[in-house]
Amino acid sequence: MSGATPPDETSLQAGEVFAVTGGTPLSGTVRVPGAKNSALKLIAASLLTDAPVRLADVPDIADVPVMVDLVRSVGASVERDGDVVEIVADSGIGWQPERNLMTAIRASTSLLGPLVGRVRRARLVRPGGDKIGARGIDLHLSGLVAMGARLEEGPDHVDVLAPDLHGARITLEYASVGATENLVMAAVLADGVTTIDNAAREPEIQDLCRMLVAMGASIDGIGTGTVTIQGVDRLEGVSWTVVPDRIEAGTWMVAAAITAGDVLVDNVRPAHHEMLLRVLDRAGVSVTPERDHVRVTAQDLLATRVLTLPYPGFPTDMQPQMMVLLTQAHGLSQCTENVFESRYSFVDELRRMGADITVEGHHAVIRGPTTLHGAHLDALDIRAGAAGVLAGLVATGTTHVHDIHHVDRGYPDFAGRLRALGADIERLPASAGAGEPR
Ligand code: UD1
Repeated sequence: MSGATPPDETSLQAGEVFAVTGGTPLSGTVRVPGAKNSALKLIAASLLTDAPVRLADVPDIADVPVMVDLVRSVGASVERDGDVVEIVADSGIGWQPERNLMTAIRASTSLLGPLVGRVRRARLVRPGGDKIGARGIDLHLSGLVAMGARLEEGPDHVDVLAPDLHGARITLEYASVGATENLVMAAVLADGVTTIDNAAREPEIQDLCRMLVAMGASIDGIGTGTVTIQGVDRLEGVSWTVVPDRIEAGTWMVAAAITAGDVLVDNVRPAHHEMLLRVLDRAGVSVTPERDHVRVTAQDLLATRVLTLPYPGFPTDMQPQMMVLLTQAHGLSQCTENVFESRYSFVDELRRMGADITVEGHHAVIRGPTTLHGAHLDALDIRAGAAGVLAGLVATGTTHVHDIHHVDRGYPDFAGRLRALGADIERLPASAGAGEPR
């Protein structure tokens, strides 16, 4: 499910470049905003009620206006004021979201559950987003079929028709984040009880479930592998603050560690980072967690082993950033990617900077420490782009990270916030970024 067509607003910026000159230890405080992977789903979930839904701490990232336009395209009215988004989906909700917007972001699949729940049908156009592997939707669809839906396949879309949506017992073959979310969102307004076994447990899913409960849904087992939903007739409106973005937080932790800096990462839930903190500890990084922030310092980094798995395992969305850290660690590190098959594409970019990384299938061996040197890199997806910037922070000379519209999809004002911590980074038009062949 790759091959995204960028939406208009991001393609306008597609030519911009980050120019990063390495060598400065980061220091200071950085605040983490609400999570991308929660905010986008909460906006979709607002379609489940005809009452107002007010979301606070919505991150200022490029995917948010696309999601806002998607819910508008089925009839919701949306007001946005800074980090607050208010959605009212009070009448005539349609079932066919705007095609071009659907293909722009992977999270557009999150409309499936709310639309099937609310209007009992939905059209799903091939979704877009990061190019990190096949990203199937079979589990979303087979779960809905178990709940009484019928599928009609079109050339580039599938229509899901569920006039008699009912509860079902569903066992996911894989603890898919998107499938769990969609099935929960459909089940809250279905007739009867739905049980999802092998459900994904990510904090962003817990955030979604808790907001739905605050709207009047009945959900048991939140944060466990078995979630039970008793359908209700109607949901109320709600005012909700998005859970902090644990991947953003983790990215700042790695940035602090690789530059031998001293950074306080604020608006963090340390409990959401158990595995990351364990791995960082093994890598010689000192992370001191407090109630809602962590302080990160590091000097000598040590080789370690990283294995990505669904939550509470090590997050795949932190794997590229961690690989950069491991290029600076003493010894042989190993990384195993279990979630997305082609998530090592960015390794070629790091090698261009001098990284010593060997990939075989879903295993990578990283030999460190290596001196990275400035180069021209492509931001292949959100996290690869962020990892490229992190590599630039420790490289000699200047690193140009191209295609930064990907980074804008996950990190609000990444360059400005890095600069506030002392980094030497600029955002330039591609023409000024010296268009060396990559
Ligand atoms: C979400 C996150 C993404 C994160 C990922 C795993 C959003 C918008 N994105 O993506 O940042 O990296 O969780 O933590 O929240 N799969 C199937 N069939 C399905 C569903 C999934 O084969 O029906 C496969 C995918 O191809 C992929 C793996 O399962 O290889 C993980 O997918 P999933 O957990 O669903 O992640 P997303 O919801 O796409």
